[in-house]
Amino acid sequence: MQEITLEVILRLVFGIRDDRRLDRLRVLLPKLIEIGGSATLMMLPPRVREATRRLPFTQYGRFLRLRTAVDEILFDEIGRRRAEPGGTDVLGRLLETELGDQEVRDELITLLIAGHETTATGLAWAFERLLRTPDVLDRLPHDEEYLDAVVKEALRVRPVVFEAPRLVDAPLRLGDYEVPAGWYAAPLIALIHQDPSIWPSPEEFRPERFLDGADAHGKAWMPFGGGRRFCVGAQLALLEMRVILREVLGRLELSAPDPAPEARRLKLVTLAPAKLTRVSARARTPARTP
Ligand code: HEM
Repeated sequence: MQEITLEVILRLVFGIRDDRRLDRLRVLLPKLIEIGGSATLMMLPPRVREATRRLPFTQYGRFLRLRTAVDEILFDEIGRRRAEPGGTDVLGRLLETELGDQEVRDELITLLIAGHETTATGLAWAFERLLRTPDVLDRLPHDEEYLDAVVKEALRVRPVVFEAPRLVDAPLRLGDYEVPAGWYAAPLIALIHQDPSIWPSPEEFRPERFLDGADAHGKAWMPFGGGRRFCVGAQLALLEMRVILREVLGRLELSAPDPAPEARRLKLVTLAPAKLTRVSARARTPARTP
């Protein structure tokens, strides 16, 4: 799933077409993301980090080398695209703004970090829940409306991001509590999605909840956060998840030998499957299309 969602970012967001660049980035970016997101690197005091800057075998040294290699490709691509404006990808749109090269590169990296692993994790959970709920799996690919409900229900029962914190800049009254300025307040997405007064039998994976009166749940469905900082990639993520589920399930018949649900593991800000799920896949003949 990570390979597929990386491909989507490379093409739709970065707008890269050149095969050699694509090949390089397919190798470099996962490494850069892994090392850049490593807790040990982030926890290192800046002075210690700087001291290891020139040592190629330290984690920070490796990170810097990878970053330079990625930047070379991205800045080159930005220069090339400035020379031939246009294109429907996100890079083309960013280049229509006043942003300088460095800022455009930063936006691309932000979109990559925010949009690649989150969507892959959402998909992994969608497949996991489907495999453990064979009645629902049997109904797929089915029609677009049901597929949309499956995606929404997967993101409800297994939200990828577990909270959406806000730094409070003025005292905030929350029920009986007063949150002082300077504190963080965060709706816990995973808890809201388990509230039985809104979601009857909240543990059940039941896409039908979203079929009638899909918007009845209002703000209680919030896998993409809310308010002004609502996820900018939400529509892309929902579309990607539908397309990928449809394509995979149209070609493959999937089953899981072990019916036990997969445990969750906290991975920086996301809740990911704790382990790998064993899946049996058999080609459908002929391929089934909705
Ligand atoms: C299933 C996939 C995804 C999930 C669960 C997810 C979830 C979230 C959440 C919870 C937030 C914080 C919202 C808030 O604080 O209210 C967020 C913000 C953001 N997301 Fe996503 N996201 C996903 C996919 C994507 C994709 C595909 C992209 C871009 C290609 C993306 C780009 C961003 C960006 C740039 C922000 C920051 C927005 C801001 O602060 O204004 N996300 N996302």
